[in-house]
Amino acid sequence: MTEEKLLELLKDMSLTEKIYQMVQLPGGFYSGAAEDSGTSLDRKVSEEELYLMGSTLSVWGADRVNTIQKKAVESQPHHIPMLFMMDVIHGFRTVFPIPLAQGAMFDPEMVRKGTEIAAKEAAAAGIHVAFSPMLDLVRDARWGRVMESPGEDPYLNGTVGRAYVEGFQGTGAADLYKDHVAACIKHYAGYGASTAGRDYTAAELSEHSLREYYLPAYHEAVKVGVEMVMTSFNTINGVPSSGNKHLLQGILRDEWGFKGTVISDWNAVREMDIMGFAADEAEAALLAADAGVDIEMSSLTYADYLKKHVEEGRISEDAIDAAVLRILRLKNDLGLFENPYKDADSVREQQVTLTEENRAAARKAVSESLVLLKNGILPLHEGETVAMIGPYALTQELNSHWAPTGRTEDCVSVKTAAEEFPGIRFRFAEGAKMIRRNDYMDVRSEHIIEKVRECGILPGPEDLDDEALLTEAVEAARDADKVVLFIGEHVTMSGEANGRGEITLPANHLRLAKAVAAVNPNVAAVVFAGRPLDLRELSGYAKSIVYAWLPGVMGGPGILDVLTGKVNFSGRLPMSMPYSVSQLPLCYNEYRQGRPKGLDDPGIFTSCYSDIPNRPLYPFGYGLSYTEFTYGPVEAKCAVPADAALRDVAEDTVLFTASCTVKNTGAVTGTAVPELYIGDVASSLVRPLKELKGFARVDLAPGEEKTVTFEITKDMLSFTGADNRRVLEPGAFRIYIGADCETENLAEIEVER
Ligand code: BGC
Repeated sequence: MTEEKLLELLKDMSLTEKIYQMVQLPGGFYSGAAEDSGTSLDRKVSEEELYLMGSTLSVWGADRVNTIQKKAVESQPHHIPMLFMMDVIHGFRTVFPIPLAQGAMFDPEMVRKGTEIAAKEAAAAGIHVAFSPMLDLVRDARWGRVMESPGEDPYLNGTVGRAYVEGFQGTGAADLYKDHVAACIKHYAGYGASTAGRDYTAAELSEHSLREYYLPAYHEAVKVGVEMVMTSFNTINGVPSSGNKHLLQGILRDEWGFKGTVISDWNAVREMDIMGFAADEAEAALLAADAGVDIEMSSLTYADYLKKHVEEGRISEDAIDAAVLRILRLKNDLGLFENPYKDADSVREQQVTLTEENRAAARKAVSESLVLLKNGILPLHEGETVAMIGPYALTQELNSHWAPTGRTEDCVSVKTAAEEFPGIRFRFAEGAKMIRRNDYMDVRSEHIIEKVRECGILPGPEDLDDEALLTEAVEAARDADKVVLFIGEHVTMSGEANGRGEITLPANHLRLAKAVAAVNPNVAAVVFAGRPLDLRELSGYAKSIVYAWLPGVMGGPGILDVLTGKVNFSGRLPMSMPYSVSQLPLCYNEYRQGRPKGLDDPGIFTSCYSDIPNRPLYPFGYGLSYTEFTYGPVEAKCAVPADAALRDVAEDTVLFTASCTVKNTGAVTGTAVPELYIGDVASSLVRPLKELKGFARVDLAPGEEKTVTFEITKDMLSFTGADNRRVLEPGAFRIYIGADCETENLAEIEVER
């Protein structure tokens, strides 16, 4: 449809019709299961209203979607198709590793490919908009939602964010028509800065920190044309995101030029009333619409109050028209006016879903996302007897809390995958039970309170009743050549509303590790989790540690590929792995201080703890492999003519290049991941010592050496000045290229003008 026709359509719509385009209720309402939708409404919703609504969420499956769409198109006065939206967080049916693990891949191309697969599967199942990627910068491993984020670094998050958006939407204007879905970045903004790891709390952030750390990844997604933005639950400095005009209008639309649609998070408009930011629901509706929220998710304040606000002059009909036009444009971009059913087709759904090709891509993604933290005994070799011990060796529960369209039965367990490696004599033992969120919650509600009062700690292994499993595991381990432990946090322990006060491994898993290590010192541990965990105790029992996150449907095969050395490790930490919970929040790129903490020797009167080290257990960007790489000295060269006035050149102008050689000095082929960090020696505002600004993946055969060259643009040397504008200040900069954020391999450059 042309823009002219869209405008004609808009003109012909009644105010009520327009307002209902701005309302969204969950799919449960369309199947008569409204009470299970998790939405608490104070009133009934009529069938007429339901089919007037512009969109719904969490309905999938071509047949179900098409049935609702048909009814909507037939019953709406202007036959406007509905939008079907869904959380497609790390794959659709082919569930990929969690987004945090996708950050660990340091491979945007792999992220893009995986998301393209997710888009194709989702589109065939009737989805038009994916509520993804989540680009909230995260620094606190207690927060359950760190699993949904690519991690603690603005550059890494922005790079992953772009790849996600391009994977979902494609890169051409017509791509959305077929096999793609619109992407929706979330949660705008600052949600990751929530207090003390608890969900739905306030973020206290200066405008400077917001712009330097929390906004860049969303901005990158806007630059590549993301279609939708979701607000966040939190307040920033007292203002809820869904009522924040500065964020939604000032920054998003005016500064960044975002033209797409803004949706609230679930019930977030109504929650402005609960927070006391609005006096009642009517005012909440007004504040959200006025701030620029085009669609209200899962509550009905727009439906109930917007019309009256327009009629009584509190908001103009033009403002409503502008929001509705954005929604209609999105429908048009997706081609829904020509074909309301788009890709939704049950035959096609079967054909494109969970194909061998999709599974192969997911398997590769798993192997790329694993991070080798320390190594004494891997890889496993043919002819060895290996005891595979722990609940994660057997389970198919490898998806996450945030894979609503994924199925446990689609997952390939480690045990099943082991059949592909007949040269190794594997024996399996469960070793310990998995501890689910409800186990903690139940225990907490029943006898834990007493127990905590008595001894001050969470229940120990003696409460878990898995003695027989332990004994069996110890026997399996005793005379094996090697033991691999598959332990960790259950998938229900992370995700929304799943903050943790402790970030330890389950007590019974640690007990298992200890018992096994006592009879066989050759222990490797593969840790599953939706967040960085405290690995100190485990380190004492395991000679090798692999971080496996929550790997998705091809978890088993992807993990065995690297454990057996068929594929080399190349994953890098997207979040610092803390020494203990007390270091949180933690990040490598904090602002510099006058009394910096020394990494190994903090000294007195410095910014240090007196009882634990300052250093994280493993730093951001860290990860080993089966080979070793050495980095040559950094060589930086000026790339602009001597008379160029740097202040006037465009942000993406390359000012310098920085190169260094990377050599594989080990015995096997591997992928080095050189990381580029930049540090501003002195500036008008205090900045971090160094910040990630680039990385590459370099495949190297044993003995092989390659030169890696990074282009350094004006933007990479600039920062947000005191007036909140980007500025490049002349002076010295340090350009580091190395294996992780602790690298000291650097060259200094001088920006003169
Ligand atoms: C979450 C969002 C999600 C939405 C819809 C909310 O609770 O915060 O991330 O997209 O629900 O499922």
